[in-house]
Amino acid sequence: MSSSTSSRISPSSRTRILTGITTTGTPHLGNYVGAIRPAVAASLRDDTEAFYFLADLHALIKCGDPARVERSRRELAATWLAAGLDPERVTFYRQSDIPEIPQLCWLLTCVTPKGLMNRAHAYKASVDRNVEAGQETDDGINMGLFSYPILMAADILMFNVHKVPVGRDQVQHIEMARDIAQRFNHLFGNGQELLLSPEASIEEDVALLPGLDGRKMSKSYDNTIPLFEGNAKQLREAISRIVTDSRLPGEAKDAEASHLYVIYRAFATPEATASFKSALEGGMGWGDAKQALFELIDGEVAPMREHYHQLMAQPARVEELLQIGARKARERAAPLLETLRDAVGLRSASSVAVAPTQQKKKAAKLARFISFREKDGSFGFRLLAADGEEMLYSSGHATPQLSGALIQRLRQPGALREALRDAAPNYELVIDGAVVGRGPTQAAGDAGVEKLLAEVAALDSDA
Ligand code: TRP
Repeated sequence: MSSSTSSRISPSSRTRILTGITTTGTPHLGNYVGAIRPAVAASLRDDTEAFYFLADLHALIKCGDPARVERSRRELAATWLAAGLDPERVTFYRQSDIPEIPQLCWLLTCVTPKGLMNRAHAYKASVDRNVEAGQETDDGINMGLFSYPILMAADILMFNVHKVPVGRDQVQHIEMARDIAQRFNHLFGNGQELLLSPEASIEEDVALLPGLDGRKMSKSYDNTIPLFEGNAKQLREAISRIVTDSRLPGEAKDAEASHLYVIYRAFATPEATASFKSALEGGMGWGDAKQALFELIDGEVAPMREHYHQLMAQPARVEELLQIGARKARERAAPLLETLRDAVGLRSASSVAVAPTQQKKKAAKLARFISFREKDGSFGFRLLAADGEEMLYSSGHATPQLSGALIQRLRQPGALREALRDAAPNYELVIDGAVVGRGPTQAAGDAGVEKLLAEVAALDSDA
């Protein structure tokens, strides 16, 4: 259902957005209003393609508690799915399931000036704390924290995204990702923009939710309202602890000055907000106001909470969705990484992935794809038989990514066989109705096609 609405806009013209969620905590109502709800809404727009991921490699930097990281990964995956994220529409994955990201991180690390990292706010804040406490400047600071922005740049640049919705505290990191992308392009791009420079996008009108005591809702202030944890009763209890002034029922309340009202506004329509305000000004008691707030929030949250608890009870189902997401993400990441490896001089002999244990035995016997640049400047590939004979010539593509993506597709089990059409005097490769490659003319006839199919079978059995 989602794919039919989004197909009106061609995938390449959609704005690609990406954001990461560090897996160290349990989401609360403030996270929902400030990040989860707007991100889910953005992912439903027809003109965007969203990449959302659990930043579990980043979690290791700050959290040395394996049980907590593990639990947070499960809770966050279930939370985002329960909050309405459609995994068919959005590429939703776990960072640690994408080996291309740490590989890209290393390529970027080798072009990032150390001085740039010295200026990162998070690192500087840690140094300042050490200096204040009379400690060594780098006391307790690991290299993960120091190069945190490079891993984040890899997250972003891996998917050539346009926009990164983040909080203000993350804007410097996006600027660093731009710097790093430009430096990489300058050093290795040969005039090409291998990596796209992303932009930070800050949602100006998203509510910053106050906590029970009126300060920003945050775990570190211990003033949070739970999102899906527990049940309606626990939600009601938390709401009953919202701090109010001591005005009695019947006395006029100052709605604008009350954080209970601010929380109400984050969930209600403008009309409902206006009548809540006049009720407070007309003397509604805080007890009734809390009951109204509870009903409002629970009305939005209860169906999702139920879904959340179902998902938490089905870890295998969530895992399956994450693995589908990882596959989708890697289909995008692998061709780009291949191009970047080529650019820095790490060209792989063949783009056919061979399981490491079988590498020695099989390398000599397998058909393989090779990518290269045509004389006219376009990018294409050949399929070579095990004996080196050229079995297939692709059409030219504007970018190495397009050509690489096609190879990835053809390497799916059965895909090549399905794409082959007999078209005397040779054969054609047809994908989505378009001819994207041909066999050599001398391969005409059954013998040629059979040889190709035999090579394909070898590829399949290797996959
Ligand atoms: N650093 C981000 C945070 O703490 C999380 C994150 C990791 C991220 N990688 C990202 C956000 C890439 C946006 C893009 O909130």
